[in-house]
Amino acid sequence: MRYSRIAATGSYLPAKVLTNFDLEKMLSTSDEWIRERTGIERRHIAADGQTTVDLAEHAVRAALDAAGCKPEDVDLIVFGTTTPDLLFPNCGVLLQARLGCRGVPAFSVETACSGFMYALSIADKFVRAGEAKRALAIGAETLSRITDWTDRSTAVLFADGAGAVLLEPAEAPGILSTHLHADGAYSNLLYSGGGTDLSKPRRAITMTGNDVFKIAVNTLCKSIEEALVANGLQATALDWLVPHQANLRIIQATARRLDLPMERVITTVQDHGNTSAASVPLALDVGVRSGKIRRGDLILLEAFGGGFTWGSALIRY
Ligand code: ACO
Repeated sequence: MRYSRIAATGSYLPAKVLTNFDLEKMLSTSDEWIRERTGIERRHIAADGQTTVDLAEHAVRAALDAAGCKPEDVDLIVFGTTTPDLLFPNCGVLLQARLGCRGVPAFSVETACSGFMYALSIADKFVRAGEAKRALAIGAETLSRITDWTDRSTAVLFADGAGAVLLEPAEAPGILSTHLHADGAYSNLLYSGGGTDLSKPRRAITMTGNDVFKIAVNTLCKSIEEALVANGLQATALDWLVPHQANLRIIQATARRLDLPMERVITTVQDHGNTSAASVPLALDVGVRSGKIRRGDLILLEAFGGGFTWGSALIRY
């Protein structure tokens, strides 16, 4: 039996930081409102001309460096994003050209905030099937490009960043399970136009925040329960929960329902905002590089986003 494991993680945040106080000068909002309702204090915004693939390349090179691998060692690229540089070619292909690993399969998955969970699950299956040896699972976004900066209900939430993991074959399971789900019946509660449906507003993120909040908490709790039951575990067995970083209140509500102390939850939402597909691999990399997450730790990753789409991965790091 062949398994996959995470060989290394990497992430990247653009240099420009936008604080809640900066937003106070642009919108009718306040640092207090944003912190109380979301937990967000600051976020990173891509420089003019900086694209999603630019951010991803930095994150991937950091992961490859940490693994002691070269770009030509990579034989699969799965790229989660909802803010692609182009409609096509996909971001995976654009990144492949930068890395120089020509000929290897490269594609993107557009499942909004769950993009990295889908990318990880797909990459794991390729490695376990013996069809890839070193597979990149990436989540990268420049949400600032599709944010309506005059809409205070969304502008305070979203941000830019990238995270990546390099998977490699292993004797013992590193990725213990992945579970993916979607329910397109909710597509109108959270979406962004810009595709070929010209009846929808062009590009700007549209969200019914209250409804999304309630469904997110319920769905994430069920999703975590599903992963634990499938592995015959209780939440107490987890060393770390690395949740999607959309809103601190969603993270706290989920942890409370699981009876998991916040000390065992990696939170970056205060510094990163909601970076959609990038949020989980960014938080994972922060956990690893800060020394909190150690080799052998049992970690549950989860995300929920537009679609709705959601998923989890239980990993032995
Ligand atoms: N500053 C000040 N006031 C604001 C702001 C703001 N930035 N935004 C909204 N308000 C006002 C509203 O107008 C409203 O005023 P009113 O009572 O006079 O009408 C009041 O604040 C309350 O608004 P609500 O929308 O009810 O606030 P809520 O407590 O629900 O918080 C939030 C809003 C933060 C968006 C929350 O609903 C949320 O986090 N939702 C889930 C987001 C999420 O998880 N998305 C999923 C992933 S994202 C993805 O997939 C791309």
